[in-house]
Amino acid sequence: MRRGRGRGRGRADMLFVIVLFVAAKSSSPQEFKEAPEFYNAPECSWMKEKESLECSEEAVQVAMTLDTAYIRGSMAAILSVLQHSSCPQNIFFHLVCSSNASLLRATISNTFPYLKFNLYTFDDSHVSGLISTSIRSALDCPLNYARSYLPNLLPMCVRRVVYLDSDLILVDDIAKLAQTPLGDHAVLAAPQYCNANFTSYFTPTFWSTPSLSLTFAHRRTTPCYFNTGVMVIHLSRWRRRDYTAEIEAWMELQKRIRIYHLGSLPPFLLVFAGRIASVDHRWNQHGLGGDNFRGLCRDLHPGPVSLLHWSGKGKPWARLDSNRPCPLDALWAPYDLLQTPFSTFDS
Ligand SMILES: *[C@@H]1O[C@H](CO)[C@@H](O)[C@H](O)[C@H]1NC(C)=O
Ligand SMILES: *[C@@H]1O[C@H](CO)[C@@H](O)[C@H](O)[C@H]1NC(C)=O
Repeated sequence: MRRGRGRGRGRADMLFVIVLFVAAKSSSPQEFKEAPEFYNAPECSWMKEKESLECSEEAVQVAMTLDTAYIRGSMAAILSVLQHSSCPQNIFFHLVCSSNASLLRATISNTFPYLKFNLYTFDDSHVSGLISTSIRSALDCPLNYARSYLPNLLPMCVRRVVYLDSDLILVDDIAKLAQTPLGDHAVLAAPQYCNANFTSYFTPTFWSTPSLSLTFAHRRTTPCYFNTGVMVIHLSRWRRRDYTAEIEAWMELQKRIRIYHLGSLPPFLLVFAGRIASVDHRWNQHGLGGDNFRGLCRDLHPGPVSLLHWSGKGKPWARLDSNRPCPLDALWAPYDLLQTPFSTFDS
């Protein structure tokens, strides 16, 4: 009699647990595994306090955006940064979101309990009025433009930051990238692609209007294309010359007359091309998202690899989920922290 009742209650409890589990799964579909703690090598300088790390010039300051759509990518990127760093405890993350801040904060804290980070909220009404509606697309979500506002969003004490997109992984020590020399003038450093057809990013109207095309006339070096997904940014120089206002002015102009084709990239080219410091191409092996039109897989560019970037339409997590991965997506998979239904009870 007693045993029977006990067993009955046990079954009821189990049912309750299953119902709760299903409810939790459906309200928050992305659950992540907890990442291990990563430790500094003995030669690293020791910075314990969050407050001192956040502003330290000895620390590596990393900036990324965070949203619910790309969070799986962001998690993999953060893990890859920590895993390949000699001094992972000296890295501080500056994360920018536009909404769902408490959900995103909890997700980051649960997955990386030891991560030193700040979460900033970017008011996307800053830019939604500046994005010309004719070209608005998935690529033009306002958070894409948050990188232009990093100097205002981050504390004044942060003077230099490495900006990273969410669809990439590092396989080398981020400290090497962070230490890129910027010389006496450069505000940005990024890999440059001088073989890309620079003309094609801007409209014939732009090139045929001298007051516009002369923008590139007096640059220190030949203006070349660069990808804005991986940049070292000198925030204090940026603040001093208020480049955010300059970027906004180009976006205002784009709303009135079409001067460029893509969304958030050309304003960066307009302000910085021909004025940036170079970074070795190994730090942005871009385009792995594949061909934008036909979805074809892309191969690595020749040369060494420190960072793999799935820029382009396809994302490795989506292709892996649909069982149609590109060969290089296998390099992203080990950094995936998503808790799959099958791995839920493992830990
Ligand atoms: C916020 O969360 C909701 C529900 O998960 C989602 O629909 C929305 O796209 C999220 N917004 C951002 C900017 O991530
Ligand atoms: C570069 O692009 C422009 C405009 O799209 C085109 O007219 C020009 O022929 C291209 N140049 C080369 C070398 O492909």
